Amino acid sequence: MYKTVILYQSKYGATEKYAKWLAEELGGDLMETKNAPIEQVETYDIIILGGGIYATGIRGISFLKKNYPRIKDKTLVVFAVGASPYDEKGMAALRERNFKQELAEVPCFYCRGAWNEAKMTWLDRNLCRLLKKAVAKKDPATYEPWEAALMQAEGECDWTAREAIDPIVEYIRQLQ
Ligand SMILES: Cc1cc2nc3c(=O)[nH]c(=O)nc-3n(C[C@H](O)[C@H](O)[C@H](O)COP(=O)(O)O)c2cc1C
Repeated sequence: MYKTVILYQSKYGATEKYAKWLAEELGGDLMETKNAPIEQVETYDIIILGGGIYATGIRGISFLKKNYPRIKDKTLVVFAVGASPYDEKGMAALRERNFKQELAEVPCFYCRGAWNEAKMTWLDRNLCRLLKKAVAKKDPATYEPWEAALMQAEGECDWTAREAIDPIVEYIRQLQ
């Protein structure tokens, strides 16, 4: 039986929720990426790393880059949690931005998160407002899926769903 750890970095709780569901389903251990000692992480066979998407970057992914020489022989899996609906083009862009060089072969899954302006920090709320203002200048017919989702996201939305972890669970189970 492989030993599995789920590392997560979550600002508003959506990634944490998915990480907990994965730990329940797979029987793995949970650690916050920023507090995870590499000496402990490298004792696992399967390392799953989840992070919220902020301005197209996956939070915590630098842990894999930084420690790659020590974990390169492990099974590495990433899941990203964002507000946008799943979209092939968006996933390709996410891969291009976050999976350079040594991470190029690491599989990445997507789980849709949540959006709660009342919970956001002042800075995050204002960044989102600025982004919305910029997108609002475009013709809606030309919106990318993430732009359409951003323009529709008002106040509070929660797209988290336990079934979204099924493809990750399936992928891990077929390794065992
Ligand atoms: C400042 C800011 C930037 C964001 N950028 C993106 C983005 O580029 N793509 C996306 O899909 N979602 C984006 N989101 C939405 C978050 O990824 C979403 O709320 C997610 O559920 C956050 O996960 P967490 O609560 O685990 O951190 C952004 C949210 C904020 C506040």
